[in-house]
Amino acid sequence: MGGARAARVEAPAKTNLFLEVVRRRADGFHELDTVFAALDLTDELEVAVPAPTDARAHAPDAPAGALELTVRTPEGAPVPDVPEDASNLVLRAAAALRARAGLPGLAARIRLTKRIPAGGGLGGGSSDAAAALVALDRLWGLDLGAAALHALAADLGSDVAFFLRAGLQRGRGRGELLEPLPPPPRPVGLVLVLPGLACPTPAVYRALAPFLPAAPRAPDALLAALAAGDLEAVAGAAFNRLEAAALAAFPDLAPLRRDLEARPGVLGVLLSGSGSTWVALTRDPDGLAGALARDGLRAVATRTRA
Ligand code: C5P
Repeated sequence: MGGARAARVEAPAKTNLFLEVVRRRADGFHELDTVFAALDLTDELEVAVPAPTDARAHAPDAPAGALELTVRTPEGAPVPDVPEDASNLVLRAAAALRARAGLPGLAARIRLTKRIPAGGGLGGGSSDAAAALVALDRLWGLDLGAAALHALAADLGSDVAFFLRAGLQRGRGRGELLEPLPPPPRPVGLVLVLPGLACPTPAVYRALAPFLPAAPRAPDALLAALAAGDLEAVAGAAFNRLEAAALAAFPDLAPLRRDLEARPGVLGVLLSGSGSTWVALTRDPDGLAGALARDGLRAVATRTRA
């Protein structure tokens, strides 16, 4: 008889160093050409499952097993903007995984430590969900395989599949058609600056129509700059089509961008995903984040993560 099993896993944030919207699709989603980069800012999941002592829990007609989630800051305080109920993407991932396996009786207890700000376009919820899929697939002994996990991830959200392997990847389709890229010769330094307002993703996409390009850009220059480790060129080629839509829908984002652009050491500024986080590219993330914090801004120094 085995004991309860547990695992501790990290869930990295992401940003998009390039994001072009190629077109709006008939299903309402948008076709993207994007370059995702995982960051060394991480959430942490502690996942525990009961010992497989009760064979009935593993029967296809078992009653639903308990799926429990606690969300805390690293200091142990509650996180008001992240739900602990079944609406959290982590629990939706757990429920989808056991449904796919045909084993509704499977149970799990997950403690999520949040460092990645929610609602900032940093993919925290998506990353937590991908980490839960991978950990529970193993702890529940399902071993569904990469293709099934990818399909489950893509159903949960457009950027969940990226986090199954993270690193640096080009994403097409809704963002779920992924192509791994070689890691840059050294990590790209950046500072995440949080404007204290949320940009709901659907609202940003709703404002996008006037900004859809006649001739979509491709990330070739960015990919060459990344491969060469040329930070100035990375900053010059970094681009996010959603930025124009986010600024149109949420004009209060604009002053912070102008402030960041004017700072010494800032090579370029772009919006992370659909916002609201600004990403400032710099050779000295710690110095810049310190200066921003002294000015009362919420800034996090980070780097891309292979
Ligand atoms: O897939 P996800 O839940 O992240 O998408 C949230 C919303 O963002 C979608 O309902 C859609 O309005 C928009 N979206 C889109 N095209 C994408 C990704 C997201 O239109 N490629």
